[in-house]
Amino acid sequence: MKRLRHPILPRVLAAALPLLTAAALPALAAEGSTPDLEAGRRTFDSVCAACHGPTGHADPENPTVKALDPQPADLSDPLFNSREPAEDWRIVVTHGGQALGLSATMPAQGAALNEQQIRDVVAYAKTLAPGSEAYPPGELNFFLPIRTKKAFPEDEIVWKSRLTDRDGADVWRNVLEVEKRFGKRSMGVVELVHEDDGTDSEITEVEVGAKTVLHWNLARRSILSGAVVVAFPTDGDASEEIIPYLAYGRLFAERWMFQSSARLILPVDDVDMGEAEFAAVVHYRWTQWPRRVFPALEFTATAPFDDGGGDSMQWTVLPQLRFGLTRGAHVALSVGAEIPLSDQSYDTRWHLSLLWDFADGSFFKGWR
Ligand code: HEC
Repeated sequence: MKRLRHPILPRVLAAALPLLTAAALPALAAEGSTPDLEAGRRTFDSVCAACHGPTGHADPENPTVKALDPQPADLSDPLFNSREPAEDWRIVVTHGGQALGLSATMPAQGAALNEQQIRDVVAYAKTLAPGSEAYPPGELNFFLPIRTKKAFPEDEIVWKSRLTDRDGADVWRNVLEVEKRFGKRSMGVVELVHEDDGTDSEITEVEVGAKTVLHWNLARRSILSGAVVVAFPTDGDASEEIIPYLAYGRLFAERWMFQSSARLILPVDDVDMGEAEFAAVVHYRWTQWPRRVFPALEFTATAPFDDGGGDSMQWTVLPQLRFGLTRGAHVALSVGAEIPLSDQSYDTRWHLSLLWDFADGSFFKGWR
């Protein structure tokens, strides 16, 4: 491999520094008091078991259960149980299913049970899926950022659109991403990239990849994942790219979600033409209610391996808004403007992304 004119490492480290600092933040104070699981079990048996069954798995032969439409969620399924944050379950138990776009058949208990009882019964319901400790908990599923890669594995379809405002020729890029979980902590992804530069409008790339959660800590509210994506250009002359990345997420100070990612883009034909890309974002989650508007600020830094002798590190800032569209925000929209902070070939990039978490039900559920 040819020697690089400028050592890449110091610049890469300089860009990664803020991300490393955030990882060193102190642990979150534990939320509230420790739940009383025994009290939670008693509440569950007397209030919830009639529909959900004492084990959390509703008996389909039971006449009460038979009469229910839809059927109660299976709380003993480790994938389902682990992926739903306890906070969402407290909302559902307090305000009823329709609060998060589920069926009103799941009754509100806010009048019958006090806050501590709801905390206890939800904590108990969380223990009903043996083996769920092997799955990353939904508490660590942070909002999808525009550029930063996300650590949590998803069952999701995402449409990302980007309009690059460039003197003369605007470029419109659309990516359709299908993500599907497999195993206990992994996810496969297929992406179709379409570009339109005013003259040509075509599919330019197909990407295939997999991501796995490497480590998480629920008490610290942190999660780290590793992934590899391979990009296949449709233009025979262009090189395939191998794109490994690390993605990190961390909740701090209760309402602030920090996420960061580091990616290498490695053209198979000539690795020296590759680049390293860092991104970090903070979302302000000012309420537990998902159907709200949440602000976020994102930064990116891109360092080409071969910088042509100059300082070619590129920085951008990307203020954005997330709109939870459905009651449970299983359909959500983000919009943002990416503004270059260094010398770049474009003025502004406009981003829009629409996600549908299909594990939480049909696209059309929970809009009203
Ligand atoms: C009258 C029957 C009934 C009772 C009583 C009941 N549930 Fe439910 N519950 C349901 C049904 C039906 C659903 C599925 C709703 C849907 O998918 O639209 C559900 C869904 C849920 C969910 C899934 C939420 C999600 O994220 O999808 C949880 C958690 C839950 N119930 C917990 C409880 C707890 C805890 C209690 C007792 C305090 C309870 N339920 C009492 C019928 C009931």
